[in-house]
Amino acid sequence: MWSRVLVKSSSARSCLLLLFIHVSAPVEALRANTDNFLAQVKNLAQSLYTCSSQRVDQDMKLRFLKNVSVTCNDGSPAGYYLRESKGSKRWLLFLEGGWYCFSKQTCDSRFRRTRTLMGSSKWPQTRRGTGILSPQPEENPYWWNANMVLIPYCSSDVWSGTRPKTENRDYAFMGSLIIKEVVNELLMKGLDKARVLLVAGRSAGGIGVLVNVDHIAQQLETQAGGVKVRGLSDSGWVLDRTPYKPSDCQDVLSCSPVDAVKRGLRYWGTIMPEICRQAHVGEEWNCFFGYKIYPTLKSPVFVAQWLFDLAQLMLFNIHLTGQPDGEGQWNYLQSLGHEMRSTLHHKLNVVSFCPCSSWMDIQVKGTSLPKALHCWERSLNHNHPINKSPPKRGCPSRVIDSCSWPHCNPTCPKIYDEQTGQEMGMIQFMKHMGFDVTKMAQQQGMDPRTLLSMLSNGS
Ligand SMILES: *[C@@H]1O[C@H](CO)[C@@H](O)[C@H](O)[C@H]1NC(C)=O
Repeated sequence: MWSRVLVKSSSARSCLLLLFIHVSAPVEALRANTDNFLAQVKNLAQSLYTCSSQRVDQDMKLRFLKNVSVTCNDGSPAGYYLRESKGSKRWLLFLEGGWYCFSKQTCDSRFRRTRTLMGSSKWPQTRRGTGILSPQPEENPYWWNANMVLIPYCSSDVWSGTRPKTENRDYAFMGSLIIKEVVNELLMKGLDKARVLLVAGRSAGGIGVLVNVDHIAQQLETQAGGVKVRGLSDSGWVLDRTPYKPSDCQDVLSCSPVDAVKRGLRYWGTIMPEICRQAHVGEEWNCFFGYKIYPTLKSPVFVAQWLFDLAQLMLFNIHLTGQPDGEGQWNYLQSLGHEMRSTLHHKLNVVSFCPCSSWMDIQVKGTSLPKALHCWERSLNHNHPINKSPPKRGCPSRVIDSCSWPHCNPTCPKIYDEQTGQEMGMIQFMKHMGFDVTKMAQQQGMDPRTLLSMLSNGS
């Protein structure tokens, strides 16, 4: 009894507190910029809404595809989660990630371990969005009110396949067709009247964005010509370099990205966008690599990439485990970072050294990921010939971290030892890479932390 009362009163207080902050904010905000002001007004609207007795239905709800011939790997129906926002003409379509498999052996093993990535029978009825799918303005300042669609990844084909399951084929690989069918169904739910469709995805889903965004734009052009299609590829910018150590590709995690997609492409029946396909006839696997497909795309795509993506390091056979490997790994990492930076240089939007993402917290040169995305959208709208205006000050659409090794940006999340699961401090991490900061600092007669912060400031 008591606890119920307590919970009630504390939630009432937090609502009041929110209101207080929001009501007092506009005075200042007027002086600041209008963006901020608008965000505050949205916040106010949202907090009023959640404080009222009528709760918003914020969860996304599962819908299976009507076309049951478009399936997950195991033949179960594919589907999507939807949260409609009737008042908004903005739609967000999010492709989930989760690696891939590229042969009977690797797919059987995936089926034994992570069956939910290959079939829909255990999917929950609803899902709560986070990051760019969050319905909370505090967590998602620019997209919280959009129509949100999450497509779970159940095709293991980097969203590229077109093969149905048959009597003599154990698995279906229909990632590309799943997206097409979801878009078809959404057209009847208001997508046809949208202003913008942002196709976003992370990791394998981030590659899925690059591979599918032009297909989707083409599909909409014939059925809903007014919708602007844009992409957001998070952690999908993989390099096709030679791994640190070679592998026979018996398992997914140690197979180099090139070897994996070369095998996968045939197994999945991948369909690549036309221009990239023509540029690489017979070698379409090239189109899985961001720096090769990006210049062929017609749709604008925002790319967010960690220069040292832990998943990618694993594919190149770099492992963060207790035993330091010394100079070899360190040099490989440095050249990887260099290559990543140079392929990203002219094209990209947010690039940071953090090895994994947490949407709001990480800042690159003072700009958070949501903010950079917002500024990029603005710049696209302003690039219209009639409406050309200079980029807004304090609103960069492209930022690259100047920090020169993994993890030196203080807003980065923690790194963990792959084997022990223990958190690795910066000093341990450097040591693991064969770089003994403590010893170096001693030689200089200073505190290791001071040395680190000097180095990470680039001085
Ligand atoms: C269902 O999807 C398949 C594969 O994309 C397609 O060939 C077929 O025409 C679709 N059926 C209907 C009724 O739309």
